Amino acid sequence: MRIGILGTGVLAAALGEVWARAGHEVAVAGRSPAKARELAERLGGRAYAVTPRAAVAGRDAVLLAVAWQGAEDVLRSAGATEGTLAGTALIDPTNAVEHGRGVLLTEPGEAMAQRIARLAPGAHVVKAFHLFPSGQWTRPRADGEPPVTVTMCGDDPGALRVVGELVRDVGAVPAVLGSLDRARQLEEVAGFVIGLAFAGTDPGSAVPSGAA
Ligand SMILES: NC(=O)c1ccc[n+]([C@@H]2O[C@H](COP(=O)([O-])OP(=O)(O)OC[C@H]3O[C@@H](n4cnc5c(N)ncnc54)[C@H](OP(=O)(O)O)[C@@H]3O)[C@@H](O)[C@H]2O)c1
Repeated sequence: MRIGILGTGVLAAALGEVWARAGHEVAVAGRSPAKARELAERLGGRAYAVTPRAAVAGRDAVLLAVAWQGAEDVLRSAGATEGTLAGTALIDPTNAVEHGRGVLLTEPGEAMAQRIARLAPGAHVVKAFHLFPSGQWTRPRADGEPPVTVTMCGDDPGALRVVGELVRDVGAVPAVLGSLDRARQLEEVAGFVIGLAFAGTDPGSAVPSGAA
């Protein structure tokens, strides 16, 4: 696949590393061209640094790996408001939450994913990869350790299929919760997980196991 990554931080590095290793072409961009170059070099494989506009042009999927406060700036610099992402799967892993407490910082009822969809007209936004810490994707799985599930939501079946493949490439199993109007719910789950984890409780111990 041809993947674009907007952002040069920890999550961009983790997912970019695994996707580059899987053989995908990975175009990296951020507000700092120097950081994009440095990350692309670190990723190796078919990774290279580009401008934000080039990172979204002709891609099968674009990962928006920036702090939530930077989402609007980076999308504007990629030309998203002019429609440069129309028809492209746009992965939103952002967590607009209060550090350590997990309280959502978006307006009541509002989801970051829907805000992002408004900033990128025509993009097929998929909320995904927001729940697990980035280290989950780069550490080797122990013998017998089951794969984790990446829950996602989005409106476009094709985009959900593309992102599902990228989920499998990091050794996880995709699960679709529903359409993008479920994004707020997924974002609240991240707040729940972050809140419990920072309070010293394993969030996995706080949900029932087993299929219905
Ligand atoms: N790390 C994780 O484990 C993890 C897991 C799930 C979801 N996430 C989410 O993934 C996103 C990226 O997280 P991260 O851990 O990779 O963060 P990070 O390491 O702090 O990197 C943040 C990235 O956002 C950019 N950025 C920040 N403010 C910006 C602005 N105003 N305009 C443009 N770019 C801006 C930074 O650019 P500069 O370097 O130039 O400042 C950097 O590229 C966040 O929304 C986070 O909630 C992270």
